[in-house]
Formats: sequence, C-alpha cells, structure tokens
Amino acid sequence: MKFITVETYDELSRKAADLIASQIIMKPRCVLGLATGSSPVGTYKKLIEKCGEGDLDFSTVTSVNLDEYVGLDGTCDQSYRYFMNDNLFNHVNIDKDKTFVPGGCAEDLDAEGEAYDKLIEDLGGIDLQLLGIGLDGHIGFNEPDEVFVKGTHVVDLHESTIKANARFFANEDEVPKKAITMGMGAIMNAKKVLLVANGEAKWDILQKSFYGPITPEVPASILQLHPDVTVIYSKK
Ligand code: F6R
Repeated sequence: MKFITVETYDELSRKAADLIASQIIMKPRCVLGLATGSSPVGTYKKLIEKCGEGDLDFSTVTSVNLDEYVGLDGTCDQSYRYFMNDNLFNHVNIDKDKTFVPGGCAEDLDAEGEAYDKLIEDLGGIDLQLLGIGLDGHIGFNEPDEVFVKGTHVVDLHESTIKANARFFANEDEVPKKAITMGMGAIMNAKKVLLVANGEAKWDILQKSFYGPITPEVPASILQLHPDVTVIYSKK
C-alpha cells in the first residue's frame, strides 16, 4: 500500500487525476470504478481539464459507479447518476451508454444487484477503482457490519452517513435511508484501488482502516489485503 500525504486538496486532486489519466493512456479500453461524494470532485475537475486540453480521451472508457440511493432516479439532482453526469460525464467525451450506476429505482433490487455484478464480470472486472471513505470507514456504501458482503446489495445507511450526506439535501429527513452498493467482491477484484480523502476529520478512520485490525466493523480495513492500493490524503 502506498500512503501519500500532500498539503492541499488541489495537489491531491492533481495526483489522483494523473493516476487515472495514466490508467486510461496505458489501457484506453479500461473499466474505471467511480465514486461520488465531495472527495473526488477535484479529481474529476482535473480530468475534465485534461480532456479539454486534448490530453485525455475517454471515448473507449467504460465506467461502473459504486452506489446509488434507493428511490432516486437519474433525473433527481441528488441521485448519484445525476452527480456523475454533472461532475464528469457531461464534460468529457465518454460514451454515456458505457457509464453504469446501480439502479436505485429497480423494482427488484436483489436482481439489480446480481445483474450489476454480472455486468462487472462480463466487462472483465475493474481496472482502477476510485474510492472515498466515510467517517465510519465505509467504502461504497458498505457500512460497518458483522461480515464483509461480497455482492452488490441493498444497505441501510448508518445514522452518521445520513447526517454526513444531509449537506446535499434540503434537510436530514430527505436523505434516503437505503442505498444499493457494490460489495467488497468487485472492489477487491479491481486491479488497482485509489482512495482519496481530505480533511483532518478523516485522519483517524484512515489510521484505523490501514494500520488497525482487519474487521468488517471498519469496512475499508479489507483494503489492507488488496495488492495494489494507493491512498492520497490531504489535511485541507
Ligand atoms: C460515494 C461513496 C461513499 C463516499 C464516502 C465519502 O459513491 O461511495 O463511500 O466516498 O461517503 O464521501 P465524501 O467524499 O463526501 O466525504
């Protein structure tokens, strides 16, 4: 595991974008696993810049996102599909038909989870998985639990996650209480993992996750078993 500490969020975003850009340059038909939340927003901005300057071509890239709120469809501006369109896909030359987000409005969410795992498998797995980390150690929406769940599944969001995500909604009551998330199987099968985290509030959970015991109570701790993980952290 490489743990890189940088001074500023801008530097974090630049480094993360450089790593993703290298992946695309080395394998133009790659599969990127993507995350939402505030941590990767700067990274996406840098990727948009690179694409605008003609230095990066997304035309043959496929993406699979980690998660989606249950009950929100892509037209809702708090959905993760909307977030991805708004923060990345609308601004680069990616083929939207090759961008996938789990369907939070699927009638049968279990079947949706199975189909999502099959899709990832059929794509040959994920080449590079970008992750943020929650204050409780969640990755995707794999919340602290008694077990690590392998497949894409529905989760009850924890109180701390609902509180943390309330900033994107009019108030806490509007935050969906459930989400559908990629499980640990697809994340751990990704060839490379890149986790970005900024702000002093994330320091303790990063220490627990990467230097503490491996336990489903700290979901990100499973990444200690992954052979190719890069963490980029900035205090600010
Ligand atoms: C988002 C996701 C979550 C976030 C995490 C951190 O797709 O999977 O695990 O990465 O909640 O969110 P931020 O970056 O907003 O602190």
